[in-house]
Amino acid sequence: MRLLLTGGAGFIGSHTSLLLLQRGYDVIIYDSFVNSSYKVINVIKSYLDSDGIDYKLKTIKGDIRDKSSLEKIFKDSIKEGNAIQAVIHFAGLKSVAESVKYPLKYWDVNVCGTKNLLEIMKDNECYSIVFSSSATIYGLTNAVPISEDQTVSPMNPYGKTKVAIENMLCDLFKSNMNLWKICSLRYFNPVGAHPSGLMGEDPIGIPSNLFPYITQVAIRRINLLKVFGDNWNTEDGSGVRDYIHIMDLSEGHIDAIGFLKSKKSIYESINLGSGKGYSVFQIIREFELSTGCEIPFLIEGRRDGDVAEYYADISKAERLLGWSPKRSLKQICIDGWNWQRNNPEGYT
Ligand code: NAD
Ligand code: UD1
Repeated sequence: MRLLLTGGAGFIGSHTSLLLLQRGYDVIIYDSFVNSSYKVINVIKSYLDSDGIDYKLKTIKGDIRDKSSLEKIFKDSIKEGNAIQAVIHFAGLKSVAESVKYPLKYWDVNVCGTKNLLEIMKDNECYSIVFSSSATIYGLTNAVPISEDQTVSPMNPYGKTKVAIENMLCDLFKSNMNLWKICSLRYFNPVGAHPSGLMGEDPIGIPSNLFPYITQVAIRRINLLKVFGDNWNTEDGSGVRDYIHIMDLSEGHIDAIGFLKSKKSIYESINLGSGKGYSVFQIIREFELSTGCEIPFLIEGRRDGDVAEYYADISKAERLLGWSPKRSLKQICIDGWNWQRNNPEGYT
């Protein structure tokens, strides 16, 4: 089965690409490399080569807003007699802070780029798509665990583009309910790395998320961690989140593709998280215990837009996809540290 992975060279896309290739899928990665490195493609290839796996991978550099370049991939695949049967749509911009500064850029890349992709899919009779949505769309919420039927109320332009795309996908489904197979996966906090230590998260500049920040403190690229508030209404006063191992998350995509394949038509939004909440202090403690690295920290004020506690109700993913996370917080810390230690400067 041939799949197109937009943004397939990114953090989540690269791990998912490798898994799909290991399981015999024919993969086309389409990525502008605006937030990723071509080196990850070579890592994927050499990993598969060293395992003696015969694989089918094409990588094409391009922007999802470039209609002719994207269209050519669909047409060429049809000409080869190996049409693209489904798309996993990772491509997009994901920084909350940048989206506040440059909202039009986010609406252009995320929303217009997705509209472009959907038009081309429709024209080329490819009707299956798995979309990378985000738990950020739930906004301020007091009700945990968060289930998919909770009202969405995004608090920043990034989150608003994700809601707009989900609405676009839903409208498209309703326009022909016998045709489209659509699954929006609402990720919570993807963290950790491939167990080989060869692939992981490689943020540009200073990380804004907790986990890559901690691994960079551990490798001493950054002096200390700033903990954003110790006076939240949580058990130990620090913010609580749902951290999901990148390998568990990647496996969720394989199950989502299988789920779509088994349906005649479908539209679903599904949470992917660990279903557990861990506080910042718990993460620091577990990281120190699992890796032996000390993480010096300082308590700072709360970060704008933060919430006290966020974790997923994952019963829908378990029920519909037959998916459940298998890896512990300890495994997240060990794998994340292994990647950072082996690649102190990431892919560069
Ligand atoms: P990432 O930045 O590592 O990967 C995104 C990839 O898309 C990158 O390789 C980038 O080069 C590519 N890209 C960006 N704009 C493009 C364009 N116009 N055309 C073609 N390619 C383009 O991010 P990620 O963490 O792997 O996230 C993947 C998806 O999941 C994103 O849509 C993101 O919004 C969503 N998501 C991520 C998280 C997270 O915490 N990592 C959480 C929720 C949702
Ligand atoms: C953040 C984004 C969210 C996005 C998600 C994944 C904000 C307000 N929210 O979510 O929209 O979907 O990343 O990309 O930016 N923390 C520290 N010190 C740090 C970094 C984080 O104490 O240096 C704390 C935070 O206050 C939070 C927890 O660690 O309690 C996790 O933070 P983070 O990794 O940024 O994820 P989210 O807050 O869930």
